[in-house]
Amino acid sequence: MELERLLRSQGFGSRPDCRALVRQGLVSIGGEVCEDPYLDVAPDGFEFVVDGVSWRYREKAYLVLHKPAGYECSHQPRHHPSIYDLLPRPLLTRDVQSVGRLDEDTTGLLLFSDDGQFIHTYTSPKKHVPKVYVVTTKHPVDEQQIAALLAGVQLHDEPAPVAAMACKQTAECALELTVTEGKYHLVKRMIAAVSNRVEALHRNAVGGLVLPSDLLVGQWRYLEADQMAALATR
Ligand code: URA
Repeated sequence: MELERLLRSQGFGSRPDCRALVRQGLVSIGGEVCEDPYLDVAPDGFEFVVDGVSWRYREKAYLVLHKPAGYECSHQPRHHPSIYDLLPRPLLTRDVQSVGRLDEDTTGLLLFSDDGQFIHTYTSPKKHVPKVYVVTTKHPVDEQQIAALLAGVQLHDEPAPVAAMACKQTAECALELTVTEGKYHLVKRMIAAVSNRVEALHRNAVGGLVLPSDLLVGQWRYLEADQMAALATR
């Protein structure tokens, strides 16, 4: 593939933009500046540097972000900065989208991709992908609340009760709740339905993928093959 075309596919702008980047000496390969925008390169595993930042060719981009509180999952945020402000421009140019949404005050694991099929798989209610939330509650959790969450709680505007796939108390005012749906404010509404209230909410896992402990708040990274495999396990 011509270098200029490869750069375009990776989000570095139009073909003329990418040609200009190369001609300005801003693109290096193997430690050497490359000034030929038409250089033929093999995309698989291709590594390059643009303006001092290292990249590897990816046909599709799959990322995990440790979402901070105070960010909205929207391109047009109303009251807070957008989660998209936390990603570099080439990924935005590639039209990477969040896989579902977390509330502004929710923290934790948020996936992104530019692969429509992947986004569909991990957002479709029919796929029943488990999502694990660490919930801090206002009032102490009791056994009746756990039992009701596991049996299913009736939420306003929902035709049928919604049940947690798993629910375990982890402290007086904390529980770990696994749900397989992605409805608006789902966890907050479920907790309210058992007469308690969410004080803090953190998503720790999606499918078999646990938020990496070394991924600091606000940081993102690509999902590599082992993490993609983990994600697909339930
Ligand atoms: N459930 C909620 O209530 N909020 C979230 O952000 C995610 C799940």
